[in-house]
Amino acid sequence: MEKKTIKWGIIGLGKIANKFATDLKVVNDAELYAVASRSQDKSDAFAKEYSAKKAYNSYEDLAKDNQVDAIYIATPHSFHREHSILCLQNKKAVLCEKPLAMNLQEVEEMTAVAKENNVLLMEALWTRFLPSFQYVLEIVESKKLGNITHLEADFGFKPIYNADSRLIKKEIGGGSLLDIGIYPIFITLSTLGIPNTIDANATFFDTGADKECNMVFTYKNAKAILKSTLKEKTPTEASITFDKGTIKLNSRFFEQTSVTITENGTENTIEFPTKAGGFDFEIDHFNQLIRDAKTESNMMTFEFSKTLISTLDKVRKNIGLDY
Ligand SMILES: NC(=O)c1ccc[n+]([C@@H]2O[C@H](COP(=O)([O-])OP(=O)(O)OC[C@H]3O[C@@H](n4cnc5c(N)ncnc54)[C@H](OP(=O)(O)O)[C@@H]3O)[C@@H](O)[C@H]2O)c1
Repeated sequence: MEKKTIKWGIIGLGKIANKFATDLKVVNDAELYAVASRSQDKSDAFAKEYSAKKAYNSYEDLAKDNQVDAIYIATPHSFHREHSILCLQNKKAVLCEKPLAMNLQEVEEMTAVAKENNVLLMEALWTRFLPSFQYVLEIVESKKLGNITHLEADFGFKPIYNADSRLIKKEIGGGSLLDIGIYPIFITLSTLGIPNTIDANATFFDTGADKECNMVFTYKNAKAILKSTLKEKTPTEASITFDKGTIKLNSRFFEQTSVTITENGTENTIEFPTKAGGFDFEIDHFNQLIRDAKTESNMMTFEFSKTLISTLDKVRKNIGLDY
């Protein structure tokens, strides 16, 4: 049976919007139909580069375009709530970048608006959809290696310091925790669930955004040691220790294309080749949800997004970071 072609729009034409548009090209039965920037020149240039039919200089005009089926929100974290709600109220399916919003209250508002309007909303945490990560989850769930006793994950790099940049300006959600700390936390919640206790400490930029955050999640029979930093480049790996072996999600773990399993002293690396940058898996999933008239993903549920943001809220409380 012929599949409906999903017509996409993108709001906010920065770094990640380019990656999304590049990967969208390899997805079957989908097209980039329209883009929106605050600047007409930027919108025109982006539309030309990725062959989009429409180039808007207003996010609202894109949200109102009747031809558009799905909108990818690629603005800084602090605008996710506002821009997602704008699109949901215009009956557009929304794939919104991580973190879904700044705090639990905002995420609850967004999911309520999605429900009221009977439209699809999903957090774009693309790691969830990678075949390599499905494989890791299968091993965890099958208990093939027993129970998890220990998890470690880090994510660090050093951006050029600019107090007005998205990563460093506190007013638009800057800091390591929400931008990259979300990935070690995502891996931990996906494999170990909600921790009994959270301990965290952080250092800060002069803007008030966190420069580095170290976290310990404690479970009845396991511990997770997690780190995010904008101070230095770190291996950006995740390793999960079980009773009977280990799984290493190789660098960089949030975009892993290989997983190394050690069992009975034997190491085995499994490769997961990809045809694009990896966003294609989440886009495929989202497109199918639209075709099936779903209003929530079964893989990235509202409940999971709420757990994720609540955990980020708890870490922020620990380190005294308020948004
Ligand atoms: N999934 C991933 O791997 C991944 C990787 C990086 C980032 N992200 C997420 O994607 C989102 C965007 O990140 P990015 O790295 O693409 O950021 P970016 O390069 O700074 O782009 C953000 C875009 O948002 C728009 N925008 C609207 N209001 C803005 C404001 N007041 N200040 C700055 N930009 C504003 C701008 O687009 P216009 O000028 O066109 O309006 C800007 O180009 C973040 O939430 C981040 O967490 C995800």
